[in-house]
Amino acid sequence: MIKHEWIEKGYIDEAVPAGVDLKAEIRRLCKEKNAVVLAHYYTDGSIQDVADFVGDSLALAQIAEKTTAEILVMCGVHFMAETNKILSPEKKVLIPDLNAGCSLAESCPANELAKFKQEHPGYKVIAYVNTSAAVKALTDIVVTSTNARAVVESFPKDEKIIFAPDKNLGGYLNAVTNRSMLLWNGGCHVHEQFSIEKIVELKSTHPGAKVLAHPECKSGVLALADFIGSTAAILAFAEKSEATEFIVATESGILHEMMKRCPEKRFIPVPPTTGPCACNECGYMRLNTLEKLYNTLKHEWPTVELDEELRKAAKAPIARMLELSK
Ligand code: 13P
Ligand code: SF4
Repeated sequence: MIKHEWIEKGYIDEAVPAGVDLKAEIRRLCKEKNAVVLAHYYTDGSIQDVADFVGDSLALAQIAEKTTAEILVMCGVHFMAETNKILSPEKKVLIPDLNAGCSLAESCPANELAKFKQEHPGYKVIAYVNTSAAVKALTDIVVTSTNARAVVESFPKDEKIIFAPDKNLGGYLNAVTNRSMLLWNGGCHVHEQFSIEKIVELKSTHPGAKVLAHPECKSGVLALADFIGSTAAILAFAEKSEATEFIVATESGILHEMMKRCPEKRFIPVPPTTGPCACNECGYMRLNTLEKLYNTLKHEWPTVELDEELRKAAKAPIARMLELSK
């Protein structure tokens, strides 16, 4: 039985009995229930190590669509779990903590985007996957940072386009595709924090290091980057590059996979502008813990549910993206 206090909290905080090997129990429950655990590169290393699949937001959406598992547990943030449910309504989609939101998704409420669309008739709408289902339902096509450039370039050069919600990614896309899409004024609280001064400092103390940046970073950070790309693209670049040191301007959870793939290379996370806090960690991603994952699998709650009309409306622009990304 799901307790009222868990519903209020949005996660299960039942104490795990002492001596339980959480990783072994999670794997056992997955096997018993035909469940898979999907984890984003920004989650804690312990979550990535126990997951069936670790990936960027595009790869996780593609896996969710294809897997034959009956239960998907999305260790990431809410819009990722919601995307899984949109693509696989017949599956039970679980999220260890319903509070795992996304500041970028929150920066674009559906009613405000609907109003903006009305004020700009004749515009196509491209939305980053970091949005709610209600926002996706208002758009023509969804993008992730892996396929954003290709999707934008699939539109005629003179097409009038609104890009939402990330102004940094949108500005970067405008620059590389030579377009002038109208940009929604949204941003990610983690990627907006990276310090330009500290990157300059790190470059001078590590002259051979390559700067890797996610396109959600501010334009000043992107201007200093040797490579700009999604989490998967950044990983692939680091693997292939002959450089041995990298200055990393994205959420620091990615260092776990970087060090796994390239143990001989050195990865230096860029600190945020504000003091010694852990702002290069996404607090939402870090709400995923082994205890919550175990309890989610055990009790099969919290689930992600969607109204069927909304799900269908949000699916169309995601399906268009997946078709273009095959
Ligand atoms: P990726 O699509 O590169 O995995 O990024 C997701 C995200 O939330 C970035 O902040
Ligand atoms: Fe959202 Fe930023 Fe966290 Fe990515 S890092 S999930 S964009 S808040």
